[in-house]
Amino acid sequence: MSDFGTALPHPARDAALIERLRARRSAPAQGLAAPGPSHADLEAILEIGLRSPDHGKLFPWRLVVIGPQTRARWVAELEAAAPTDKDRAVLRKLAAPPVTVMVVSTPVDSPKVPLWEQQLSAGVVCMNLEHAANAHGYATSWITDWYAYDPRARALMGLRDDETVAGFIHMGTAAEPLLERPRPRVGDKVERLP
Ligand SMILES: Cc1cc2nc3c(=O)[nH]c(=O)nc-3n(C[C@H](O)[C@H](O)[C@H](O)COP(=O)(O)O)c2cc1C
Repeated sequence: MSDFGTALPHPARDAALIERLRARRSAPAQGLAAPGPSHADLEAILEIGLRSPDHGKLFPWRLVVIGPQTRARWVAELEAAAPTDKDRAVLRKLAAPPVTVMVVSTPVDSPKVPLWEQQLSAGVVCMNLEHAANAHGYATSWITDWYAYDPRARALMGLRDDETVAGFIHMGTAAEPLLERPRPRVGDKVERLP
């Protein structure tokens, strides 16, 4: 039995959206400040994030919205566990933003969909969250940093052994204008076959 539903609108050309995408830029996470997404905005952003390409309807990811108490506790415990001063310093990226969503890749046993594709799907959720937050007027930053991989940090954040952090998606208002950075040229990265 098909589980496809009602017909959706055909995408129309959207010049404003094209301009937005052409100028998309991440913000430095440590410079993100209030206001972040309101409760209603965050619900809409999460909904868009969950509408991400995913082979086989496995939905092989879970999202964790990090509330202020958890953020403060994690930062304090990670400061104590940081292997180096530099590792401690980058915790500002986790401490500063008003809203953060942790996207976790949660592999599903599948005879059809390889782990790589499931992890790619988690990455797409991250990107869609960024686009959605940007569309709601917030700046974003996609960060992993050492604590995404450190065993003690992973335990603190409640990750299962088979799970991977796809990203911490930080959202807020950028303190400074975002400056362009070098971008590859299409001709350098794209091969065109006849
Ligand atoms: C999976 C992934 C992990 C990332 N982790 C970090 C990170 O830990 N620290 C960091 O400074 N940037 C990290 N970045 C890069 C930033 O999110 C951002 O893309 C980069 O600063 C370039 O800015 P742009 O998005 O405007 O091109 C990561 C990006 C991806 C895709």
